[in-house]
Amino acid sequence: MTQEELFKKLIAHCKEYGYIFPSSEIYDGLGAVYDYGQNGVELKNNIKRYWWESMVKLHENIVGIDSAIFMHPKIWEASGHVDAFNDPLIDNKDSKKRYRADVLIEEYIAGIRGKIDKEIAKGKKKFGDAFDETQFCATNPNILRLVEKMEAVQNRMREALNSDDLDALKNLIIDCEIACPVSGTRNWTEVRRFNLMFSTQMGSVSNDTNLIYLRPETAQGIFVNFLNVQKTGRMKIPFGIAQIGKAFRNEIVARQFIFRMREFEQMEMQFFVRPGEEMKWYEYWKKARMAWHRLLGFGNEKYRFHDHDKLAHYANAAADVEFNFPFGFKEVEGIHSRTDFDLGNHQKFSGKKIQYFDPDTNENYVPYVIETSIGVDRMTLLVLSASYDEETVVKENGETDERVVLRIPPMLAPVKFAVLPLVKKDGLPEKAREIMEILKFEHNSQYDEKDTIGKRYRRHDAIGTPFCITVDRQTLDDDTVTVRHRDTMEQERVQVSALASTLDKLVNMKYSLLELSRVSEI
Ligand code: GAP
Repeated sequence: MTQEELFKKLIAHCKEYGYIFPSSEIYDGLGAVYDYGQNGVELKNNIKRYWWESMVKLHENIVGIDSAIFMHPKIWEASGHVDAFNDPLIDNKDSKKRYRADVLIEEYIAGIRGKIDKEIAKGKKKFGDAFDETQFCATNPNILRLVEKMEAVQNRMREALNSDDLDALKNLIIDCEIACPVSGTRNWTEVRRFNLMFSTQMGSVSNDTNLIYLRPETAQGIFVNFLNVQKTGRMKIPFGIAQIGKAFRNEIVARQFIFRMREFEQMEMQFFVRPGEEMKWYEYWKKARMAWHRLLGFGNEKYRFHDHDKLAHYANAAADVEFNFPFGFKEVEGIHSRTDFDLGNHQKFSGKKIQYFDPDTNENYVPYVIETSIGVDRMTLLVLSASYDEETVVKENGETDERVVLRIPPMLAPVKFAVLPLVKKDGLPEKAREIMEILKFEHNSQYDEKDTIGKRYRRHDAIGTPFCITVDRQTLDDDTVTVRHRDTMEQERVQVSALASTLDKLVNMKYSLLELSRVSEI
């Protein structure tokens, strides 16, 4: 199965098992907007809790806030979003479809890369075990020609973007003979800048002075509350403010399911530090955030850092945490050293002094900021794509069966325990209900008596329930139940009196947080 097929299956699975639905589906959906179903919301809430507790519970010097989505429009002038938060777009005059010019060129480059991969595959087939890929790439004339072509396009694109030369981008599209994927023609408009912020009107009178924006990031709500939190919380630098909330971006290219959405959620933390100490904290947060990701157990090789060569105007260092999604390594989180750009600009635009008096140095200054910023939805996609698995199971009678299993880390799984009476009679449902009454106050549990036990196991594999607890006739005799482990399908008998404490160790987030607190200490 190709990665593309796998991704399609995952999307279908998310819909079938109550994780994620297209928004407004009965009206044919709304582009790049999604709704979370009964299992999706639980997974998302658990991801948010894992992040929130790792920030606010594990760090005495980090506190949380929840600021409004609507903010004073001047905030977006101060932050640079009104002038600089835009993408280069181009329209095809025949299909009327709109594209990001840089994405069209990136796809063209990916096409060349695909041809190089094909040449390598041909070489492998031809030379078998004697194949030396490095030597082959350094000498094969087709590959050398393709690499030269690819690098030339990459360089021209980089130069055009760095110098904000929209004509050069258009010329590159023309020179590469890039055609619209829908109409197939090269009848393009000029490249224009397109601001990604959604706007609306506040109040009953509609005019330009009432224009406000839906926030494109949650970070600015933290910056404008810096003094409120610092003073009321008597916070001493270094300290952080964390926030989880919705953000909105009118993305031109919104694809890959919940990877790039127009309405999404962010988990952001701004860590305020003494100027000059930012690089130490930048390194700390890179390490701490990678540890947070790796603890989920999807495999360290699935993550990498991408350090930015080209920095945003406000940053003096930036890196992305990238994850190997079914469509390749892509950003899931950004860690940015944002200097004093945001607080400094809010001071300038608001006319209010935003400074910190440092009792240790007897100085007033505008703090520097290290930001960690991760998308909740993108993280949800990460967990789902890393967890999705199809396997062939050999049954007791020797026959084989297929199962789809979501190997979600137990602490993040929407449903932790399924309590299943083997049959719907002989007092088993009553006993199972008794067990539910014990477990449901500890962790999200589901009672399920419909269908055969085999079907119920498959259903819970498919939603990622880590433990199924089966009540059978033996339970009535010796007060033990069968605990079935999702990943291995192994079963063990456990005393009902020991059930809650035995299982708690396997699903409770506090044990992971404890481990995390050890690895992220500096
Ligand atoms: N405050 C910094 C900031 O917003 P960003 O790199 O634009 O930085 C941070 O966004 C994270 O938010 C990304 O790493 C990604 O996980 C998530 N994100 C950004 N745009 C998104 C979109 N359109 N849909 C889903 N998630 C998005």
